[in-house]
Amino acid sequence: MKKFTSVQDVADLNGLVKEALHLKENPYQYKKLGENKTLGLIFLNPSLRTRLSTQKAALNLGMNVMVMNLDKEGWALETQDGAVMNGTTVEHIKEAAAVMGQYCDILGIRSFPKLQNREEDYSEDLLQQFISYSKAPIVSLESATRHPLQSLADLLTINENSPAGKRPKVVLTWAPHVKAIPQCVANSFAEWMGQADVDLVITHPEGYELSEEFTAGATVTTDQQEALERADFVYVKNWSSYQDYGKVLTDGKGWMLTDEKLEATHNAKVMHCLPVRRNVELSDEILDGACSLVLEQANNRTYAAQAVLKQMLESL
Ligand code: CP
Repeated sequence: MKKFTSVQDVADLNGLVKEALHLKENPYQYKKLGENKTLGLIFLNPSLRTRLSTQKAALNLGMNVMVMNLDKEGWALETQDGAVMNGTTVEHIKEAAAVMGQYCDILGIRSFPKLQNREEDYSEDLLQQFISYSKAPIVSLESATRHPLQSLADLLTINENSPAGKRPKVVLTWAPHVKAIPQCVANSFAEWMGQADVDLVITHPEGYELSEEFTAGATVTTDQQEALERADFVYVKNWSSYQDYGKVLTDGKGWMLTDEKLEATHNAKVMHCLPVRRNVELSDEILDGACSLVLEQANNRTYAAQAVLKQMLESL
């Protein structure tokens, strides 16, 4: 594996899931594989889970890890080709990515969308420039449009908790939030579920349709209660509008998931990528209840990252 930016970079999805679940049982089996290899984790945005789980995954494989908060600790980065750098930017991504690629055998990069210009965000310009200018394989730690390590961890969690012998019904439901949130997690979850052995239903208020690029094969409805009928998994996530790009169109009153709404499901397990705003996105009763899988998802982040890093180390 030379890059991991979306499900399209995975040649054998079932194989990768099996690998991750095997690593969960045997986390130190490949401790020699990463000896004298370095993972660089570059953050332009905050993180708890991605930072620590990917670091732990690399340590389990025997790698060294360097972490840099590039937005706070690095030089102000220029990304425009041909820019005359007589303003506030100090270093061009051409040099920065190339240099980091010299120090590291694998690079991870987190860069959120700005939610101001859809074309710019959806071009994934920064991620693509890192891929172009760094010779090291690149792992997305969440980009402008996707969060593939989260989606792989979510798929592991669904596999582990699926009712035996049944193709599970998985519902991705929009939830309220206090501010505009990127579409990355929802896009990515929809895209990965589209490749998995599940029936996916997406529900959201009008105006929150995701790009069809990610939702192929899913049923989409604005009727949340109908969507929840006989669901086995309910994935809760807020996102801002794709059409009216980056806008919050509603206060989302009535869209927060409750135990009462879950009665229509097939004893559904509830998922969220975290961090979660309690009693805004998801109620205390659900997060603290037996149906919540949020901590299992977070735990699986380590083994998702470990499977990806292992395949990259094997192809160095
Ligand atoms: N789910 C997730 O990516 O968490 P962090 O933003 O804390 O890394």
